[in-house]
Amino acid sequence: MISKRLEDAINAQINAEMWSAYLYLSMSAYCQDKGLAGMANWFAIQFKEEQDHAQIFYNYLISRGGRVLLKAIDAVETEWASPLAAFEHTYKHEQHVTSLINNLMQIAVDEKDFAAQSRLQWFIDEQVEEEENAVDIINKLKMLDGNSYGLYVLDQELAARVYVTPSPLAAKA
Ligand code: FEO
Repeated sequence: MISKRLEDAINAQINAEMWSAYLYLSMSAYCQDKGLAGMANWFAIQFKEEQDHAQIFYNYLISRGGRVLLKAIDAVETEWASPLAAFEHTYKHEQHVTSLINNLMQIAVDEKDFAAQSRLQWFIDEQVEEEENAVDIINKLKMLDGNSYGLYVLDQELAARVYVTPSPLAAKA
């Protein structure tokens, strides 16, 4: 059985992951509107991954005898100054999510909940990748410095991103 404190924190995290999904779907719509279908694809996959993160926490809470309580999802931004601004926002947001996951881990450590620590370790590793991916694209966008052909090539590269079911959900399939 999971503690009430961790149960509440995981319910808040489910909401945060769903909000992240909504944010990235909004960025996908923004990129699509700018004719950047590859970037729109990249954010659409990010949208799916965030829903997966919410689902992993949802499944986990139930597996530990907790009660999932879904709350309202706040509105998200719809416009950015440029694709670079959208990816910089992505990086800043992922850093925030990393701090939320770290807080969850701290609670699990405080409560000596070793099972929760095991599940949270997956998210800690995932956040390293999330931040790295955003930084990689930011660096490329800065390098091409507004060059249209460079933007086209990067958009083609991001069009190639494919969705992969994360291992905690793949194991359940
Ligand atoms: Fe659910 Fe992008 O972290």
